[in-house]
Amino acid sequence: MTTPETNGHQSNGHQANGASRYIPRGASGIGVHDFVPELGYREYWYPAVEDRRISRKPVALKLLGDQIVFFRDTANKVAALPDACPHRGAFLSGGIGKGRGNNEFKGFITCPYHGYTFDGTGQCVAALTDGPNSKLAPKMRARSYPTRTHKGIVYIWMGVTEPVPLEEDLPEEFFLDDVVIQTYVKIWPINWSLTMENSRDSHNSKIHRGQFRRLFNLALFNKLPAFWEGTEITEEGDNYICIAPRVRQDQVQGYFPGLGKKWPQHDWWRFKGARRVNPLNQQRNAFNNSRPGGLYRLPSIACPSARGRSVHLRYFTPIDKDSVRMFTFTLRRETNVIKKWLWKSYYHMWYVYFNSQQSVNEKEDLPVQAVGALDPTAPQKLGATDAAIIFWRRRMPFKSRDAQRLWSQSRVEAAALTIEQDEEREAVEIPLD
Ligand code: FES
Ligand SMILES: [Fe+2]
Repeated sequence: MTTPETNGHQSNGHQANGASRYIPRGASGIGVHDFVPELGYREYWYPAVEDRRISRKPVALKLLGDQIVFFRDTANKVAALPDACPHRGAFLSGGIGKGRGNNEFKGFITCPYHGYTFDGTGQCVAALTDGPNSKLAPKMRARSYPTRTHKGIVYIWMGVTEPVPLEEDLPEEFFLDDVVIQTYVKIWPINWSLTMENSRDSHNSKIHRGQFRRLFNLALFNKLPAFWEGTEITEEGDNYICIAPRVRQDQVQGYFPGLGKKWPQHDWWRFKGARRVNPLNQQRNAFNNSRPGGLYRLPSIACPSARGRSVHLRYFTPIDKDSVRMFTFTLRRETNVIKKWLWKSYYHMWYVYFNSQQSVNEKEDLPVQAVGALDPTAPQKLGATDAAIIFWRRRMPFKSRDAQRLWSQSRVEAAALTIEQDEEREAVEIPLD
């Protein structure tokens, strides 16, 4: 399953061997959704909902722009159907009508309007108000979406082609025997692709400076690099790229001639060696010690950090064009029962609030890029520090399963022309070394 050369992702052999490495060469004007679908790629598994949330009462969720209803079938497996009755369109979940009586029969869902009742495969098994001998019932069938449950999370396949094994879409860390996975789910008012893009760009020293949390780990006093000198795509595979900023630890302040000032303007309280770096970070039990940088992986997986004893990985399931269901998976390898318990307690009492989710992502990143703070349709010009985003917008769409399985040849050819023009633009060169 794991191959160290590919970091567990699919590979097309275009590894970081210099010659075949893809480096965007010019400033790019390709927009957020010129090629990346606004409602997400379809031909993939997506995390949909926590398994424990589906009990006897059906649950309605919007995913990839479609309204879906989840319930438990006769085998107690989570079933997913479009939340629209094939009879006359009532929401099977009830929608705002609360779905009175839709869970009358265990293992089935009953439409709250005329009582047509469906099993987990979408087959109508009884049309209650059409009588026991209904001729319509056997002919009535709803689409059913394949689901799989893994470590407490229900995944859904909303593609129109045959589903691949779940193992193909989830990073291989998810299937390690000793892995403990904590999941944090939240709805964010932002397009899914913008939050992907944010996961590995140069905003760090602007947005994430000096907040309260950094008092505790002393990072507030640490000398931090203030800017990047570009980004490198350090590894490229069939469905992913690895990304590393070109950053110099000693560039903690820069002089900006256009302003006649230095930035950051003040940093007198920062001193060298303030922060203790945990030497274990790259050793025992670490994940992906060989992964050269952060990760963007299709369809919507981002991992901002390179390595560590725990992996903070985000998997975005689009809801509609302006919101996303954000699944943050924190993975850690632990076999010792007591340590496992300690880690879980630490996660719930501290990590969720202070490490990467509520304090950082929601309180710092989201306010500058959510709906109302950033206009994804505005003309944009991307440069050297946006190399990963240029790749994500320009190349990644054509690696997708959607491109391979659904997109027409003419669409791909038309896009290739636009890309060629985009690549010919002037401006930034990103040197290899
Ligand atoms: S609309 Fe659902 S049974 Fe009639
Ligand atoms: Fe951030």
